[in-house]
Amino acid sequence: MERHPQVLLLCALIFITFFALLHLVEAQDQKGFISLDCGLSPTEPPYNDPSTGLTYSTDDGFVQTGKTGKIQKEFEPIFSKPSLKLRYFPDGIRNCYTVNVTEGTSYLIKAVFVYGNYDDLNNYPSFDLYLGPNLWATVDMNGRVNGTIQEIIHKTISKSLQVCLVKTGTSNPMINTLELRPLKNTTYNTQSGSLKFFFRYYFSTSGFTIRYPNDVNDRKWYPFFDSKEWTEVTTNLNINASIGYEPPQLVMASASTPISTFAPWSFSWSLPSSTSQFYIYMHFAEIQTLRSFDTREFKVTLNGKLAYERYSPRPLAMETIFYSTPQQCEGGKCILELTKTTKSTLPPLINALEVFTVIDFPQLETNQDDVVAIKDIQNTYGLSRNSWQGDPCVPKQFLWDGLNCNNLDISTPPIITSLNLSSSHLTGVIAPSIQNLLNLQELDLSNNNLTGGVPEFLAGMKSLLVINLSGNNLNGSVPQTLIEKKGLKLNLEGNSNLICPDGLCVKNSENGGSKKTNVVVPVVASVAFVVVLGSALTFFFVFKKKKPSNREGLSPYTQASDAGRTRSLEPSIMTINKRFTYSEVVTMTNNFTRVLGKGGFGMVYHGTVNNTEQVAVKMLSHSSSQGYKEFKAEVELLLRVHHKNLVSLVGYCDEGENLALIYEYMANGDLREHMSGKRGGSIINWETRLKIVVESAQGLEYLHNGCKPPMVHRDVKTTNILLNEHFQAKLADFGLSRSFPIEGETHVSTVVAGTPGYLDPEYYRTNWLNEKSDVYSFGIVLLEIITNQPVINQNREKPHIAEWVGVMLTKGDITNIMDPKLYGDYDSGSVWRAVELAMSCLNPSSARRPTMSQVIIELNECLTYENSRGGTSQNMNSQSSIEMSMNFDIETIPIAR
Ligand SMILES: *[C@@H]1O[C@H](CO)[C@@H](O)[C@H](O)[C@H]1NC(C)=O
Ligand SMILES: *[C@@H]1O[C@H](CO)[C@@H](O)[C@H](O)[C@H]1NC(C)=O
Ligand SMILES: *[C@@H]1O[C@H](CO)[C@@H](O)[C@H](O)[C@H]1NC(C)=O
Ligand SMILES: *[C@@H]1O[C@H](CO)[C@@H](O)[C@H](O)[C@H]1NC(C)=O
Ligand SMILES: *[C@@H]1O[C@H](CO)[C@@H](O)[C@H](O)[C@H]1NC(C)=O
Ligand SMILES: *[C@@H]1O[C@H](CO)[C@@H](O)[C@H](O)[C@H]1NC(C)=O
Ligand SMILES: *[C@@H]1O[C@H](CO)[C@@H](O)[C@H](O)[C@H]1NC(C)=O
Ligand SMILES: *[C@@H]1O[C@H](CO)[C@@H](O)[C@H](O)[C@H]1NC(C)=O
Repeated sequence: MERHPQVLLLCALIFITFFALLHLVEAQDQKGFISLDCGLSPTEPPYNDPSTGLTYSTDDGFVQTGKTGKIQKEFEPIFSKPSLKLRYFPDGIRNCYTVNVTEGTSYLIKAVFVYGNYDDLNNYPSFDLYLGPNLWATVDMNGRVNGTIQEIIHKTISKSLQVCLVKTGTSNPMINTLELRPLKNTTYNTQSGSLKFFFRYYFSTSGFTIRYPNDVNDRKWYPFFDSKEWTEVTTNLNINASIGYEPPQLVMASASTPISTFAPWSFSWSLPSSTSQFYIYMHFAEIQTLRSFDTREFKVTLNGKLAYERYSPRPLAMETIFYSTPQQCEGGKCILELTKTTKSTLPPLINALEVFTVIDFPQLETNQDDVVAIKDIQNTYGLSRNSWQGDPCVPKQFLWDGLNCNNLDISTPPIITSLNLSSSHLTGVIAPSIQNLLNLQELDLSNNNLTGGVPEFLAGMKSLLVINLSGNNLNGSVPQTLIEKKGLKLNLEGNSNLICPDGLCVKNSENGGSKKTNVVVPVVASVAFVVVLGSALTFFFVFKKKKPSNREGLSPYTQASDAGRTRSLEPSIMTINKRFTYSEVVTMTNNFTRVLGKGGFGMVYHGTVNNTEQVAVKMLSHSSSQGYKEFKAEVELLLRVHHKNLVSLVGYCDEGENLALIYEYMANGDLREHMSGKRGGSIINWETRLKIVVESAQGLEYLHNGCKPPMVHRDVKTTNILLNEHFQAKLADFGLSRSFPIEGETHVSTVVAGTPGYLDPEYYRTNWLNEKSDVYSFGIVLLEIITNQPVINQNREKPHIAEWVGVMLTKGDITNIMDPKLYGDYDSGSVWRAVELAMSCLNPSSARRPTMSQVIIELNECLTYENSRGGTSQNMNSQSSIEMSMNFDIETIPIAR
């Protein structure tokens, strides 16, 4: 017998149960159970289902929308009571049930759907089912005369759970019962994701299904028996099964063994796809009375791989064997085998088997404080809008009307940034819950019938930029703190009873528009401040340039041999303050303790300058032969180039052997990491990907057109696109950049440099360096954000991404190339444009590729398409980018020490 490493054995945990006392099936506690008979009238009291003893109640109060219906008489005999009535949703796209749950608890959630021609249209519906913001299942009832069940085991992450039915075609979503059963926290744990029911069999010829009250968790066990291959073993004795997974007595009281003494017991199944991950739970108990010389021992293998080497079921006690990690089967075909060991006198035996597939729910729910606040506001004003159900912000296509949210990344909970309830017939006072929307930037309550005063709390809301309370019946005086709040745009027009400073409350009839009030002044002032400082700085540089340069310590740069390059080099800008000694570098990196990564030509460390400013310190490795030249190139370039989408150089060190570049710290790493899920395990959405590439394109465009002489980056790739703490993208690693000739001049670079896969084939062939080589590499970056595929993958029919996409596109289906991790959450028009743009950047002839300026225009179009889908206003975007560039300017000021 083969000996296998114990690794698998470690993964397989065991629950052991010893002898059982006589255990009668008694009325089980339904504690925590939620059993809804959807469509039951709210006037009908809860009732007990005679077949299970479960107590069902109306769904009224769990759902605000929908109409109730009833399956037709002819179908009634097939179904029992909770399935006879139903709720259907003719209005709105997404309709949701909201259920109060215990946070952090796994629930078995079941939804039953029985059409029964309730609408007399004989048209079986098809729709999507969501759990919170994530797709759970597509319910296609076609041909399902007997109805269909969706079942999942899901761990809650907040106090409420939303089950949403989403219209995907013309048919109305509908539901008959919704059931939630809390499970013990020691069972059905996964590494990540939830467990979607695949099958749950007990091996018996009984022919009946078993659920509550036999199963304390109301799991449904289906009988299965292969009479050709198996023999049934049963017992009347009691089995101790009331620990661990607690399968019912009845389930454990029968088992299957192979007929043939020598053949293994085997069971096979096919998963939904070859990449499906699953969890398996095998339940065992020895239910035969063994004679003293009998032994039952077998090995457990899954697709030939050892799961458990020598297993003997416990006499009359339940044990469960399972993997604590998700499993996969080659080609999606699985075979479980139990093979008798040589020592064993009896064939293998198994009582029950459960298999679940793993379903990932990557999108996080909206920040819970925001959810509570917005629901309070909804209740305060009695707002019954169809879209105001389910998660307020996500998925983006179901964003609540009048809200805008910030959802950069599916692994960060979205936050509400804008609330617009203009002309919504609001009455009463301004809801105090508004102050709990901590990230609100815009509040528009104009043209309602709001009364009472203007609350002081508005002045305390830090992120607010716009408040529009015009056209209401507010009274009292406007709080002084609000009037004086910096950077706030406040509109109070048309509140005739409001006492406020000149012009703030009355309409300016002269220009008809909203009067600019003095409150705008602080913003203007601070912008002006930045502008003045900015030009002072420019003046400083211009002034300094004209002075004879201070060459101390700068010889390596001024000795640059390439005359074309030194022509406009201004080493004098390299003030001595940006130069650090090696011992300063050691101090700032805390003796090189924290490695950030390995860059183009050396290790990168985390550091701190002046105890506050975080930096990334790139050490030039001595072994790198090209290193020194590249170091110089990078310093020269970076000191000359300043752009918000290019990683800026804070300083450098040049002391003997020790060469270092000190960059601004980019807190969010590189784009590749975010695409691969290495950061936080989740994947950035399409809109964020577009924003990142637009910004990167702007950086590149600046190198091509904004610099004199122009620059070619030469190493554009996703690992060179870095993200700061605001998720602003900046291009890094100019180590390979060289000045390149302006039109007409010829230039041949000596070494073809760049990263395989991103390298322009024309440049490679001709050695002719030109800015269109960057456009080519940028095209590859675009394909990466679209497909999230490796640039080169030898296992693909076409190893290079461009060729692979080309082939896939000829087959015509864009969804085949799209990153599956986007879960279809994108505007397809936007994606098509991006694909077309990428392909044009990859044109073999550089002359036919677009310029970076054209690329930017086109990418902004893609972004507009995507935004119009989710309703993110253009206005918001431009505001946030203004804010970002302002941040940048302010941040750079302390650098020029
Ligand atoms: C079942 O076995 C466990 C120990 O494994 C024991 O704690 C429990 O009391 C037993 N239950 C019954 C009903 O005998
Ligand atoms: C859920 O809990 C909230 C309070 O936390 C309560 O107001 C609401 O009525 C509950 N919903 C249901 C359906 O029980
Ligand atoms: C519905 O159930 C009945 C009996 O339960 C069965 O005979 C019939 O084949 C089922 N129909 C379908 C379409 O599954
Ligand atoms: C399960 O819950 C109990 C108490 O409710 C707690 O002490 C225990 O740590 C939890 N176990 C796990 C695995 O979460
Ligand atoms: C609020 O919505 C109205 C139209 O419904 C629009 O005119 C107004 O500009 C919006 N307010 C803000 C602050 O965007
Ligand atoms: C506001 O309320 C008053 C009565 O309280 C009513 O007469 C008026 O029509 C309302 N205005 C609007 C715009 O709803
Ligand atoms: C309310 O005022 C803000 C800022 O002045 C403006 O953006 C918004 O469009 C106004 N809302 C309406 C409905 O006019
Ligand atoms: C404002 O109006 C409310 C009624 O809408 C009234 O109770 C309150 O006294 C008024 N306050 C002032 C300062 O006039």
